[in-house]
Amino acid sequence: MPMSVIRAFSDSHLSGDVIRLTAGDPDFNTPEYIVEAAKKAMVSGETHYTSALGKLELREAIATKLKRDNGFEADPKSEIAVTNGATGALSLSLLAILNEGDQVLVPDPGWPNYEPMIFAAGGTPIRYPLRKSDEFLPRPEEVESLAGDKCKAIIVNSPSNPAGSVFSRELLEQFIEIARKKRLFLLSDEVYEKIIYDNMRHVSIASLEGADEVTLTINSFSKTYAMTGWRIGYVAGPKSVVGAVGALQSAINTCPSSISQAASLAALLGPQSIVDDMVADYARRRAKFIGDLREITGLWAPWPRGAFYALVDFSSISPSSSEMARRLITEARVAAVPGAVFGEQAEGHVRFSFASSMRELELAAKAIADMLKKCKQ
Ligand SMILES: Cc1ncc(COP(=O)(O)O)c(C=O)c1O
Repeated sequence: MPMSVIRAFSDSHLSGDVIRLTAGDPDFNTPEYIVEAAKKAMVSGETHYTSALGKLELREAIATKLKRDNGFEADPKSEIAVTNGATGALSLSLLAILNEGDQVLVPDPGWPNYEPMIFAAGGTPIRYPLRKSDEFLPRPEEVESLAGDKCKAIIVNSPSNPAGSVFSRELLEQFIEIARKKRLFLLSDEVYEKIIYDNMRHVSIASLEGADEVTLTINSFSKTYAMTGWRIGYVAGPKSVVGAVGALQSAINTCPSSISQAASLAALLGPQSIVDDMVADYARRRAKFIGDLREITGLWAPWPRGAFYALVDFSSISPSSSEMARRLITEARVAAVPGAVFGEQAEGHVRFSFASSMRELELAAKAIADMLKKCKQ
């Protein structure tokens, strides 16, 4: 089991004067009212084990949020499990649904952690392409043809990492049709649901007709509330799977941190305008960074519709994204993630996180432009 490549890449460049645009970790501090709730929980003795599914009060608040924001209902007593981030929700869900040798379709390019999680649960990942020529969206007929007899589930991620593509309602409906026809689960990773631009609307698969028995909705507090270190996420789905997730959690983790759960409850009950403020800031950084890159470097980068990554095409300079990322560090002092880490479809590209300060983004774009100028001389 290799170390997460993004983590390894981020950790190895912590020192020195490198501008790090590697990790998908918001640079905002967790909002004050959330931190205060955690302090209060510690002082008032909310420091014990909780139910393996997480505190009921938190599950109830998640159910209210799912109904209000995502348009579907989940019973907080039996259809929601609180986990250690979306990572916990995804890995426990995969452990719950997979038998040895089962296959899971994963997006290419996609978050690199999906594959090792599937291996750890005894399964085999099969990639479905999201091509640059299709604006990094999948072709449903191709997804269907890749879903053979051994296939058990499809992972869907919209808004997507690393391309920031947002799947339309029609596209998601086609995924539901495939899942129902082939008796598959849809694992809908919605961690970037709130980080969305250009008046695009996030659609939750579970809100669509015929989706409820086949869909596991995965989400977390990490990106929405700048809470990556608190490690709270959740899965909402059919009782049978959520029950198995609870049993696995009690065996593997006992429960997620009680203090982080108290903080997450405060996040859901508090003013949601802080989320809008952070997203407005990401939108400004997106405009600046991608605008600068396009203008001063002449490189091509799609306009991400969601998440906070710029997937920049360097293929005219080097076909190898690993080589390109290495050169960016040594020649421009900018650390970013090689596209190949996310799959074959992102080879030739490098992913930059723009969840960083405006100043750093400005310096990074300039350093890249200077480096390219030198290459041409
Ligand atoms: C698509 C995607 N899903 C899940 C996660 C993990 O989220 P969490 O911090 O909630 O485990 C990430 C983190 O980068 C991600 O990009």
